Amino acid sequence: MPADLISKADMKKLAAEASGISTPGGNARVKEVTNRLLYRLMQVIDECDVSMDEFWAAIGFITQTAKNNEFGLMVPGVALEHFLDLRLDEAERLAGISGGTMRTIEGPLYVAGAPLSKGEARMDDGTDPGEVFFIAGQVKDENGNPVAGAIVDIWHANSKGGYSFIDGEQAPYNLRRRIETDAKGNYLARSIVPNGYGCPPESATRALMNALGRHAERPAHVHFFVSSPGFRQLTTQFNFTGDKYLYTDFAFGTRDELIVTLDRVTSAEEIRKAGVNRPFARAKFDIVLVREKVGAPATIVQREHVIAA
Ligand code: DHB
Ligand code: FE
Repeated sequence: MPADLISKADMKKLAAEASGISTPGGNARVKEVTNRLLYRLMQVIDECDVSMDEFWAAIGFITQTAKNNEFGLMVPGVALEHFLDLRLDEAERLAGISGGTMRTIEGPLYVAGAPLSKGEARMDDGTDPGEVFFIAGQVKDENGNPVAGAIVDIWHANSKGGYSFIDGEQAPYNLRRRIETDAKGNYLARSIVPNGYGCPPESATRALMNALGRHAERPAHVHFFVSSPGFRQLTTQFNFTGDKYLYTDFAFGTRDELIVTLDRVTSAEEIRKAGVNRPFARAKFDIVLVREKVGAPATIVQREHVIAA
């Protein structure tokens, strides 16, 4: 069939009617968003001459994504989670907020309720043969004052790129810890260097990436939620210098301000001091929190989080 069979006015009318725009009742917000979505979707179908077969294939794909509980993975892959960050960054700028550590996407693999300890934590259970990794940092306010008692909630993949709870291969909460900063605002985590995460081979998200001619890999990264009363909660990650997927992250999470350089330590003296028995890696990740401000857009996102039993 040719494209552009239907006039814009007819599509607008149909979308408005389907969205209950001129009927009383219902939820005004749902009506508004449904109306705009439907109108745009109709336009895309008409402009691209989407066939009925293609349309129902797309519905089947979306249904499969839902059956796999995969929308949390799909959303970053099509840049929408990053897009929401860009909007929040800009809304903060307009609200006069600046200066804290850059945010980036939460991603779909957070598990709430990780073990909490003061000052430091060991995150790995000793079974991962990966490189020993110390992450040290200080939580500060915008003036450089330490924030004692902040909660640094850290999660990352193992040396195979898998997340505990999600991959079903690791102990619950392996590589997931909450650390309360000490009196100087410092936290220290002993863990293992993560590998990059790739979408599961059978996932709908990987199928979509294949169809788009894109890869479905993330560079290695470490996730953070950082919170302290009176401060805006921060959702962020860091990546590593030199990672081959650093600038093609399928999930659009990389930001230049959030790249750390791994320091590889081989000196016998340092190894002994660190209490380990082999060369290790370390990185420093300081975090600046900004004070909460009345009327500023919220940084705490209400979304479903699993809790490992
Ligand atoms: C995805 C996976 C991650 O580990 C992450 O941090 C963000 C996104 C994903 O599969 O979409
Ligand atoms: Fe991740």
